[in-house]
Amino acid sequence: MRDRAPRWWQTAVVYQVYPRSFADSDGDGTGDLNGISGRLDYLAWLGVDAIWISPFYPSPMADFGYDVADYTDVDPLFGTLADFDRLVAAAHERNIRVLVDYVPNHTSDQHPWFVESRASRDNPKADWYVWRDPKPDGGLPNNWISMFAGPTWTWDETRAQYYLHIFLAEQPDLNWRNPEVRDAMFDVARFWLDRGVDGFRIDVAPMVMKDPELRDNPPNPDPGWEHSRLGSWLTQLHVNDHNHPDMHELYRSFRSMLESYPGDRVSIGELHHPDFDRWAEYYGERQDEIHVPFNFHVINSPWTADGVRRAVEGVEGVLPAGAWASWVLGNHDQPRIASAERAGRDQARVAMMLLLTLRGTPTLYYGDEIGMVDVPVAVADSRDPLERLEAGRGRDPERSPMPWDDSPNAGFCPPGVSPWLPIAPDFADVNVAGQAVDPGSLLTLTRDLLQLRREHPILRLGDFEPFGPTPDGVLAFRRIGRSGGQLDVLLNLTAEPRAARGSGAGRVVIGTQRERDGEPVGADVELRPNEGLVVEVGR
Ligand code: GLC
Repeated sequence: MRDRAPRWWQTAVVYQVYPRSFADSDGDGTGDLNGISGRLDYLAWLGVDAIWISPFYPSPMADFGYDVADYTDVDPLFGTLADFDRLVAAAHERNIRVLVDYVPNHTSDQHPWFVESRASRDNPKADWYVWRDPKPDGGLPNNWISMFAGPTWTWDETRAQYYLHIFLAEQPDLNWRNPEVRDAMFDVARFWLDRGVDGFRIDVAPMVMKDPELRDNPPNPDPGWEHSRLGSWLTQLHVNDHNHPDMHELYRSFRSMLESYPGDRVSIGELHHPDFDRWAEYYGERQDEIHVPFNFHVINSPWTADGVRRAVEGVEGVLPAGAWASWVLGNHDQPRIASAERAGRDQARVAMMLLLTLRGTPTLYYGDEIGMVDVPVAVADSRDPLERLEAGRGRDPERSPMPWDDSPNAGFCPPGVSPWLPIAPDFADVNVAGQAVDPGSLLTLTRDLLQLRREHPILRLGDFEPFGPTPDGVLAFRRIGRSGGQLDVLLNLTAEPRAARGSGAGRVVIGTQRERDGEPVGADVELRPNEGLVVEVGR
């Protein structure tokens, strides 16, 4: 990439909107597309360059939209296609790109394709899903386990066969080895590209192609990622249901299709892989597959300087020359970064500084800019089916409604309406309106860091260089400008003071606690508890 102008998605900051939880425009307690449109001025003020909207397609909502019953429409809960078109136009007017979720691995069991497929063994869509007879002994076709717990196979009485579902039984897997499925799903992407979307976040990108013989997975001797929520799923090595080599040809074709459109459309893939090398394969040998594979290495690390360093250096170490990293600290599937089980409230600012100063495209989960924490939901009140399948894995806590202000229902939905999930109990203190006017807030820090990225080509495009050994609990790296200039990022991931050593004397450009902004510092820098500093060296 050195020889060409950066693409928009390399210098962009993406903001993930979970539409149910962002803003409710019609007073039914659930967020919607017009709610997002109504908050675009906020997003422009914040300074993000793109939004990725989680699914808003017609769906029975067994998995809150990740069970799609019609890929080319909008669920009435969220609005209409006309609302979507207005949202895209309004976002583009504000220079905000729009990415939508592309859910290729599975549909809803209510999708007309599946309804037809399950009706008989010889209908035109009979082979659009993965159907198998029981083993001769009557057992399940193989040993695969669902990411949502339990076997991946459900028996269908009519066909007297099992169908495959890597997730819920209500989410049958499509058979991408059938060219008709592939054509139909590429048409789905074209439908949204024609409507002007700037790209896709590809749901569970590495699962779409399976071993053609559906062979058993071997046990996993070394599960790793014990900090992830993947639970029992980590007990197998997912060699046959995941990361099949045929994925690569598929993403090459998908990318060619994207690039046949004007305007630099982008693919961002949801890729969970603890092995750095295997993960990096999704860039493609010629960097002709997924433009920006999400990496979840930091999300799945303990929040310690060593853990985060291993994740960051692991990713940086395997990036093919010229490939572009992505960084994510939160999403709708993970406990929030400011929650105690992740970095915690005191470290939320350090985490934001990390996210916005690493080399690569950051994706910010809605609400993390104000330090939202998980909102516990009792099992009896839980909405996420995962909680009922495996207690403790539910994702409701990180999906609570965005607190916009301190009015009843936090400005998310009108007073008196029941929001789909409880509003955070701390919304009177943690809300957008209050933090927007507070120079010491996390929101102001986030906005200022975003502005710094825009002003500093070093932060957007400069090289990354880790520091050698650093004191316990300190994470430090350099960003180096292609045409000179250097920024040191010094982060104290502990609650005690730490002595750090930067590259040389300079000036604090921005500090997490703000009172050190502008302070001249020497090469030896005393970091206060939970403090991060960006130092411009030589100034
Ligand atoms: C992805 C989504 C998650 C969903 C799953 C099945 O991991 O992020 O929310 O449940 O795919 O579509």
